[in-house]
Amino acid sequence: MTPDPNRLDNLLVENRKFAPPEKFRAQANFNDESIYETAAKDPEGYWAKQAENLTWFQPWNKVLEWDAPHAKWFVNGKLNVTYNCVDRHREGPRKNKVAILWEGEPGDTKVYTYDMLGREVDKAAHMLKSLGVKKGDRVTIYLPMIPELPIALLACAKIGAIHSVVFAGFSSKALHERISDADSELLITADAGWRRGGLIPLKANADEAVVDSPVKKVLVVERVGEKAGVEMTQGRDVYWHDLMKQAPSTPFPAEEMDSEDVLFLLYTSGTTGKPKGIVHTSAGYLLGANTSMRSVFDLKDEDVYWCTADIGWVTGHTYIVYGPLSAGATAVMYEGSPDYPTRDRFWEIVEKYGVTIFYTAPTSIRTFMKWGTQYPQSHNLDSLRLLGTVGEPINPEAWMWYHEHIGHGNCPIVDTWWQTETGSAMIAPLPGLTTTKPGSATRPVPGISVAVVDEEGKPVEPGNGGYLVVTKPWPSMLRTVWGDDERFKKTYWSQFKGYYTPGDGAHLDEDSYVWILGRIDDVINVSGHRIGTMEVESALVDHPSVAEAAVIGRSHEIKGQAITAFVTVKEGVETSSDLVDQLKKHVVEKIGAIARPEEILFAAELPKTRSAKIMRRLLRDIAEGRVLGDTTTLADPSVVESLKQQYKDSE
Ligand code: WTA
Repeated sequence: MTPDPNRLDNLLVENRKFAPPEKFRAQANFNDESIYETAAKDPEGYWAKQAENLTWFQPWNKVLEWDAPHAKWFVNGKLNVTYNCVDRHREGPRKNKVAILWEGEPGDTKVYTYDMLGREVDKAAHMLKSLGVKKGDRVTIYLPMIPELPIALLACAKIGAIHSVVFAGFSSKALHERISDADSELLITADAGWRRGGLIPLKANADEAVVDSPVKKVLVVERVGEKAGVEMTQGRDVYWHDLMKQAPSTPFPAEEMDSEDVLFLLYTSGTTGKPKGIVHTSAGYLLGANTSMRSVFDLKDEDVYWCTADIGWVTGHTYIVYGPLSAGATAVMYEGSPDYPTRDRFWEIVEKYGVTIFYTAPTSIRTFMKWGTQYPQSHNLDSLRLLGTVGEPINPEAWMWYHEHIGHGNCPIVDTWWQTETGSAMIAPLPGLTTTKPGSATRPVPGISVAVVDEEGKPVEPGNGGYLVVTKPWPSMLRTVWGDDERFKKTYWSQFKGYYTPGDGAHLDEDSYVWILGRIDDVINVSGHRIGTMEVESALVDHPSVAEAAVIGRSHEIKGQAITAFVTVKEGVETSSDLVDQLKKHVVEKIGAIARPEEILFAAELPKTRSAKIMRRLLRDIAEGRVLGDTTTLADPSVVESLKQQYKDSE
């Protein structure tokens, strides 16, 4: 993993600064600057203090046991995550407070108070138990953004079963791979999902995915009904609503979980090999989620909070389910896409529910910019008081647009840098304290320590690019990679001793603000979704016509990055636009629509070094139309020239 100079010399110079508005500062949960210093001096003390916001069945007797890179937080503490997210609110003044305001894509709605949500979760937990699910079992969940999705997660957590959510946009093959790796005997899916008025055939995908897998039962939520035309396999498939009807309506006792018992797995792409099952545990993860709701999102009881992510990704896990619910929030959950039926759908939802905190991705903001200001302007957005972004670096123009046209200049923006592996926001402003700069995630949140280092692990001077590292353990850190602790150690902890390496490049400015430069490994970030180049290459090479493939991410105005594939075909295969379409389709089948290459270029040969390594940096230069750098290590420089020509011709 070498930092790509093309990215590192692209350092932003941005001088605009936005101090927290006085009105915001005065009411903020975190409004004492000394918190940064106090937490830096004694991170364990800080986290222990924050942990008082969780409800424990049994207190811990040690905050941290650190046997690098293995951490145990809140040793011997006992708690239950669902108890913290639902039941403790039901037992108190939030009993009849709205927990989830759900809006379906076709316009149907559902409202759950904490008490109602608790009853559904308890029934679902009884149902899962009746299907044989026990503490420690893995349950794979492949659902659209319907209420049964958070209910399923919370039911698993109440039992102590480990959930593994697979984004509903993944293909049956990707689902199969994740089911097998997690060794799940139960799959929860839906008949179908709505997407822009069309259907995602989830049950049909699930049917393919469970062939030759450990799955014994498939639990099917009816979302669409007859139109989905599903076939149920006797003895294997059961309807959610049938079993829920039979489930007892008595409370389901929360399993007493150890702080370090696994809460969930979530698969994510890496540089090499197949996706990794990132392992998160109960107490530390919940603490990261809960604390950041109060610190970064300044959550108050009166807020109406909306995170537009999908629960299929970590952002949805932490900031639709576990963060907001553990903090007793009222959260909006929306099933569909921002342009269905019209391009003002998001703003209509903000106005309808009086959303006060809004959290989305830079790729969406860039799309809204492209669509024009008439859409947000046609709605009253005055309820908004705080805006957030996540998933990729936000360019200053998009930040400014968000600030002006959505926040009307009044709302602080929290640009939150974090990862599936980190569990919760790591680098982000505290909106009542931190002066923001468009394009910078600012500084690590209290209790988190980061640095930007060179190849030797030494801190770089301000203004110079380097590797972002996290220098101290933190509660919501991943504990391992499911079934592969060696990979955990190698991927995240081997490059710099004692430091966690996220795979992002960064630089610090003179105020020690962090500017994230993006991935410096072979991971592509398309619209805020992580895709490994290796995965796409394997999918391409799997096609009978393909001999070799190299995949790169090139910069893209809306998506941040787009996938470009360079392909060499086998002897005798004719290249054609038809083959391009076939190959794209093949990738979609193997992985899912998110991995569809934007363009595929055929090459007689791929540029390689004399040691036969594909020179991805060169390919990126070609795809981004840059003047080529040093090609002296190239085995055959003419390969590059011909590729460059072809790329020009294809534009
Ligand atoms: C990128 C999503 C810049 C980064 C929560 C990271 C960001 C990867 C930001 C993790 C941000 C996320 N600024 N880059 N605010 N947030 N990233 O696991 O490259 O899906 O490593 O987690 O997204 O993606 P993941």
